[in-house]
Amino acid sequence: MTEDVIIKLENVSTVYEGERRPAIKGINLTVNRNELVYVVGPNASGKTTLLETINGLLPPFNGKVSVFGLDVQSHGREVRREIGYVPQDFMVKPGEPYTAFDVVLMGCYGQIGFLNRPSEEDKKRAEQAMKLLGIQELASRPMGKLSGGQQQKVMLARAMAKKPRILLLDEPFSNLDPDSRGQIPLLITELHEKQDLTTLIVTHDIHHMLEHCNRVIVVTGGRITFDGTPEKALPLVENHPHTTPLEGHHH
Ligand SMILES: Nc1ncnc2c1ncn2[C@@H]1O[C@H](COP(=O)(O)OP(=O)(O)O)[C@@H](O)[C@H]1O
Ligand SMILES: [Mg+2]
Repeated sequence: MTEDVIIKLENVSTVYEGERRPAIKGINLTVNRNELVYVVGPNASGKTTLLETINGLLPPFNGKVSVFGLDVQSHGREVRREIGYVPQDFMVKPGEPYTAFDVVLMGCYGQIGFLNRPSEEDKKRAEQAMKLLGIQELASRPMGKLSGGQQQKVMLARAMAKKPRILLLDEPFSNLDPDSRGQIPLLITELHEKQDLTTLIVTHDIHHMLEHCNRVIVVTGGRITFDGTPEKALPLVENHPHTTPLEGHHH
């Protein structure tokens, strides 16, 4: 058994600048290697805040976050190198000039700019990541012209291009066309298994969790109110007033 602890939060609270109340409070959470965890809960319950606290983008007000045993506050860069993150509602304007390949390439080394030219190695990694997601044929298409499902796959390829050991996916099932609605959850599960990942998926789409994971965390009002099997989680989240099955949500 590989039971190594990959992500550990100890009594973590995160407060946004200018706010008085913490968006997440007193979070204790341990995620072991190769776990695939669905994080569910109503709107504004703190799911996105939880992901961004784990990858060190939001400094916790209280408590300690460690990833691979490293404190995220002092080792943020090091930790983020190992994390593939797909943010919620990444905005792609229809007139976006970047091609899908450019977007994936940015996953290797950050922004494209004149001081920052991609190496041959970066290009190879980007190509491999697109192949992994089965979207090689989208490489030269403008990102803004792709469907929601295609864009989500491009963003997944972008996250995979740096060969991460952790995937943090924020609402990857929103804005999907009917064709990719069934496909993307399966694709992520396969990716998780084949690439030896530890994966957290934030979602509103509670119907996928029964098939695709064996651990669900419910976040309500900034706290973890449930941590267990999807079967036991389902009756809890079905009654959430804001959880709209099979619907994406927008900020
Ligand atoms: N940048 C921000 N500044 C201040 N408050 C924020 C910010 N982002 C989110 N919040 C607040 O923090 C709480 C949790 O938000 P969020 O983590 O985005 O929830 P979820 O992802 O579950 O919808 C909400 O009350 C939200 O309004
Ligand atoms: Mg969110």
